[in-house]
Amino acid sequence: TKIFAYAIRKDEEPFLNEWKDAHKDIEVEYTDQLLTPETAKLAKGADGVVVYQQLDYTPETLQALADAGVTKMSLRNVGVDNIDMDKAKELGFEITNVPVYSPDAIAEHAAIQAARVLRQDKRMDEKMAKRDLRWAPTIGREVRDQVVGVVGTGHIGQVFMKIMEGFGAKVIAYDIFKNPELEKKGYYVDSLDDLYKQADVISLHVPDVPANVHMINDESIAKMKDGVVIVNCSRGPLVDTDAVIRGLDSGKIFGFVMDTYEGEVGVFNEDWEGKEFPDARLADLIDRPNVLVTPHTAFYTTHAVRNMVTKAFDNNLKMINGEKPDSPVALDKN
Ligand code: COI
Repeated sequence: TKIFAYAIRKDEEPFLNEWKDAHKDIEVEYTDQLLTPETAKLAKGADGVVVYQQLDYTPETLQALADAGVTKMSLRNVGVDNIDMDKAKELGFEITNVPVYSPDAIAEHAAIQAARVLRQDKRMDEKMAKRDLRWAPTIGREVRDQVVGVVGTGHIGQVFMKIMEGFGAKVIAYDIFKNPELEKKGYYVDSLDDLYKQADVISLHVPDVPANVHMINDESIAKMKDGVVIVNCSRGPLVDTDAVIRGLDSGKIFGFVMDTYEGEVGVFNEDWEGKEFPDARLADLIDRPNVLVTPHTAFYTTHAVRNMVTKAFDNNLKMINGEKPDSPVALDKN
């Protein structure tokens, strides 16, 4: 049995090797290259492939992989929006993803960044770098004094709620799918408008489905409290970035945490040092003292990466052995 893996980064290699050591009868080969129509032939002779990329899995790519004899494909991440599902179905593909690899990775990052915005840490860091050691006017807001509004109470949202409660915040939540436990405990408000009206900190933990695109816009921001902190460690398209910039400029928004950005593909996870920066709006956000930008790294921890690699290989092997994988992707859903 042979599995071929694409786009393996250096930081994934130890976990891949761990998996290999635990499965000595399985042949594992890999490349740092992405899966494209050209590189698909590298998988020839393999029984399945393990992949991760933001680049589209186009009909041509899927066809090339099928031509190489491989139709069992395991993603190391959760998002499946870049797969041509019709073609995958036509070619008889079986696909898996890793829907839960470490909700804590993302929730923890969101919480840390929210707290840092509240304490005005970036302004203080900038003062320290200039050897300005005065306190004022860089005064903080305590997390326990905030009402924290959580939009989306899936795995990540729930961990975020626990962390914020650990700090002593009052937590409220909104979701179209109500978790019975949370409902019993009275976390849910009736509408997003209610959440916007009450929350001092708003954190998004919902997927990028059409109904959620630009849910944070001029209209929703107008309904929020003055001095609101907005946190997006979910998906870039949820936020109308221009509207947030207007809110920051007017002072309505106290601070913004942005780990995902609607213009991130091709920009994040690249080194722009010494090169012309491709996005002036992003550069402006990065430079603001009350905005914390990270390049989609909330997920990026050793714990998460280990699970992404291990669970993807486990899934792939199960498919190859004709067993039911842990997280099959429904090909007609998208
Ligand atoms: C996902 O798993 O969908 C993520 O957002 C993380 C990805 C960039 C590896």
